[in-house]
Amino acid sequence: MKSTSDFLKMKAQGEKIVMITAYDYPAAKFSEESGVDMILVGDSLGMVVLGYDSTMPVTVEDMIHHSKAVRRGAKDTFVVVDMPFGSYHGDVNSTLNTAVRLMQETGANALKLEGAGKVCVAIKKLTSAGIPVVAHLGLQPQSAGVLGGYKVQGKTAEQATKIIQDAKACEAAGACAVVLECIPYQLTEAISKELTIPTIGIGAGPHADGQVLVFHDLLHFGKHHIPKFVEGFAFVGDEVERGIKAYTDAVRKKEFPTIAHSFTMKEEALAQIYG
Ligand code: KIV
Ligand code: NA
Repeated sequence: MKSTSDFLKMKAQGEKIVMITAYDYPAAKFSEESGVDMILVGDSLGMVVLGYDSTMPVTVEDMIHHSKAVRRGAKDTFVVVDMPFGSYHGDVNSTLNTAVRLMQETGANALKLEGAGKVCVAIKKLTSAGIPVVAHLGLQPQSAGVLGGYKVQGKTAEQATKIIQDAKACEAAGACAVVLECIPYQLTEAISKELTIPTIGIGAGPHADGQVLVFHDLLHFGKHHIPKFVEGFAFVGDEVERGIKAYTDAVRKKEFPTIAHSFTMKEEALAQIYG
């Protein structure tokens, strides 16, 4: 399993870090076997697999339930777990208690928190307790209500300057990496140069030290909204639809199951009963 120091080394050597989200055992296993560097159990699971329309309803219990399945499927990959909405904005000791619970119950390697400012106090607290923390700046879905929706962040000089300062503050607080979501590529390039810790981009252009995408987005697997910065690397949803329709048709047309799909009794039992 790669470690936070391997990720620092990869950045220093210009080697891209590949991250993907996963929410269950098969996705984690496929991802590990494909050789990704990091898996994120994102609170995007709220939209992608639980059918909510934002990440806000996702609870600590939800994160634990899914993260345990991911850990079972990817025993040998660095797993980052999102702290969900509302779970790290109270007093810093209760944040630490929740973080310890997430680490111990899921076997995660790191936790991810959105934002800087007061969140840097939590980053510092968790890091000093031995919990690696990934920061998350730019578009912060847990704050979409305050940000005025799911919009690109950092287009103006003022916003961009703020995001650069926040990134430096997260690094100073001890973050081991920072996710940059939906920011202009020039800003990603500037932050990536400025920081020693790796940046991991999503909708943030080619200059980040690593990339992350949502499993179901990059595979076009699901019925949720897929953001326009995503490339479809496979079209699994079409195949799932085709398969379910084929099964439905086969049962209705009495083509499935056949005797070939069935079990038979022992010869002597047949003779005894029907003989
Ligand atoms: O929840 C998530 O999937 C994320 C990524 C989009 C970075 O936070
Ligand atoms: Na998230």
